[in-house]
Amino acid sequence: MCVTVHSEDTIALVEINNPPVNATSQPVRQGLMRAIAQVEHDPAIRSAILICAGRSFVAGADIREFDKPPMEPHLPDVALALEAATKPWIAAIHGAALGGGLELALSCHYRMATATAKLGLPEVTLGLLPGAGGTVRLPRLIGAPQALKMMASGKPVEAQVAHETGLIDAIVLTDLRAETLEFARTHLTDPLPVALSKRSVPDHDPDALEQQIRKIIAKARGQKSPKAVCDALRTAVLSDATEALAAERRLFLKLKSDPQSKALRHIFFAERAVGKDLTKRAEPRPIETIGVIGGGTMGAGIAAASLLAGFRVALIERDGGALTSGMERVRKTLAGSLQRELITQSDHDTFIDALNGSTSYDGLSQSDLIVEAVFEDMDVKRAVFTELDKVAKPQAVLATNTSYLDVAQIAQAVEDPPRVIGLHFFSPAHIMKLLELVIPPGADPSAVATGAAFGKRLGKITVPAGVCDGFIGNRIMSAYRRECEYMIEDGALPAQIDETMRNFGFPMGIFEMQDLAGLDIAWAMRKRRARTRPASERYVEIADKLCEAGRFGRKTGRGWYLYDGNTAQVDPEVTTLIEAEAARKNITRCSFTQDEIMDQILLIMQREGQAILDEGIAARPDDIDVVMVNGYGFPRWRGGPMFMSKV
Ligand code: CAA
Ligand code: NAI
Repeated sequence: MCVTVHSEDTIALVEINNPPVNATSQPVRQGLMRAIAQVEHDPAIRSAILICAGRSFVAGADIREFDKPPMEPHLPDVALALEAATKPWIAAIHGAALGGGLELALSCHYRMATATAKLGLPEVTLGLLPGAGGTVRLPRLIGAPQALKMMASGKPVEAQVAHETGLIDAIVLTDLRAETLEFARTHLTDPLPVALSKRSVPDHDPDALEQQIRKIIAKARGQKSPKAVCDALRTAVLSDATEALAAERRLFLKLKSDPQSKALRHIFFAERAVGKDLTKRAEPRPIETIGVIGGGTMGAGIAAASLLAGFRVALIERDGGALTSGMERVRKTLAGSLQRELITQSDHDTFIDALNGSTSYDGLSQSDLIVEAVFEDMDVKRAVFTELDKVAKPQAVLATNTSYLDVAQIAQAVEDPPRVIGLHFFSPAHIMKLLELVIPPGADPSAVATGAAFGKRLGKITVPAGVCDGFIGNRIMSAYRRECEYMIEDGALPAQIDETMRNFGFPMGIFEMQDLAGLDIAWAMRKRRARTRPASERYVEIADKLCEAGRFGRKTGRGWYLYDGNTAQVDPEVTTLIEAEAARKNITRCSFTQDEIMDQILLIMQREGQAILDEGIAARPDDIDVVMVNGYGFPRWRGGPMFMSKV
């Protein structure tokens, strides 16, 4: 029985127990319908508490049911039945009340939550909108602007904020069950609060709301659900609840069968499945102190991410000046988190105290996991590993943040190579969710498990990858970047390719991205590889020629584009260079449509993805999608390149 009813005096405790997250699967909905009827018909019961077993209140509809035909009773009907109850219902919330879970709570007469509870309507992130009355009841409770903010962002709010906005009636400080029972007893004789759908939406400024809607739609970049949320909210504000509920249902069903929602559900489950067995094969080693070598862009970011996750950090730089700059970078990141109120002043001070800088490798002697983030150069990295091997604890795990280099070759620089892994972070390392865990052949499973446990503590999505040039993500990116360069030689222009990628849903195109990252890094890599590049391979020299002219991208004000402050402009000089290169190679330039460009990019991504799978570099196609979506701006609502090849 996943819904049980048990009485405490005159109060019924209706408990949902449907692990892992109490999703409203069909048996739960059916159980709730029975419980609602039981509470209504039992004269001894005067009030009911909706409470959940396990780690959380209801975290939403059962997403796995969305691909099956709908089964009665439907959640909106459960919500209506709850709302129509003639005895007071109180939602007792702990953990997360999300989606359909919050909608059930909104149909209760009162809501209480523990101080650590989170409440939200994340449906938009699954390509949906709240489908059980949320778009209608929430604005009637907390006002249209606030409701729209929650529904369009999908971000849950903390109990404190929920209390301030009126979403919950009280915060429970000690015992949820006991305090809610007490609350129920106190309110037994109160008149039943008016059901939310019978209330009117509080006054708001309609112009400001329209402006809020315009901003949401502009940000959606091709995703349909944010607009649907706005449409539903408008109806909820302008129409009566019955009409608005029917409109919400129609929109929900339409979105549920849309490929965008299918893609977003795919990526939701892919992110949860990735790397699941990494910590199961071996026990992770205990880690408290993280060593970081190199305080540049990545090292400082990795240090900040580690501090924010509660680790002690030893940061090593090559000289005093570089150390001062590196420490300053870390401090600036922490100050930024404080300023954005992501951490408290006391957390901030604790993190600063947990940071130690040194120019001597001896500073690493207490580290349990050491991440190297020095220049992308095999000789430099090997020299660093040889040095750190002398001071590191024998059980410490050693990791490199290399973007492309052979981790197995780096590992050969230490006495015990199996303790070396790759931890490939993405910039900015304290923000980007993706972490590629590169596993060289023969790596110690406990070193791998430690890397995975570290990723988890940092809140990263950790994707296992084998050793090859660029692992999963950079290898695919190199392949399609090369293809884009072929296309510009053959007749397209960078601005056309960038526009195509943006229209597809990428935040920026490949050329804009290169300008942002700096063209010099990839140039150095190409020069390094020049000796081993097969003579038969087509090679486009345009990017090299840009670099030879000192055009390194945004940082030099010129790259693929010309920059006026932050604004990129097409540079006729670059167009001339492209045309001259094509002419030099006797290429007759032809025109490309946006569809042709995007099809080609996708084809190359999928082809490289398949090669990566065939070589065992990635474990599953879904892992590749997770990498491309979380590290390379592939539009989430398209599910990833490998998913697209299947549909
Ligand atoms: N349906 C089905 N399974 C779900 C689920 C859901 N709504 N939410 C989580 N799960 C599953 C996960 O797939 C995972 O399963 P496995 O262990 O088999 O991999 C398990 O529950 C635990 O999930 P997490 O690993 O994510 O656990 P967590 O503790 O890190 O996070 C959570 C818990 C915050 C609830 C998170 O799982 C989450 O955000 N879930 C989705 C919430 C959501 O989007 N709800 C809205 C659903 S749509 C809806 O409700 C429509 C409507 O209006 C009717
Ligand atoms: P960076 O040039 O900003 O920083 C490198 C730092 O290493 C410098 O501060 C330098 O002083 C320090 N350093 C060099 N030799 C050292 C030594 N022997 N001992 C201690 N410190 C030393 O470089 P960035 O961008 O941080 O890259 C570092 C590594 O991370 C590279 O391997 C790079 O490929 C990789 N990477 C970079 C990403 C990026 O977006 N920049 C993304 C992912 C990985």
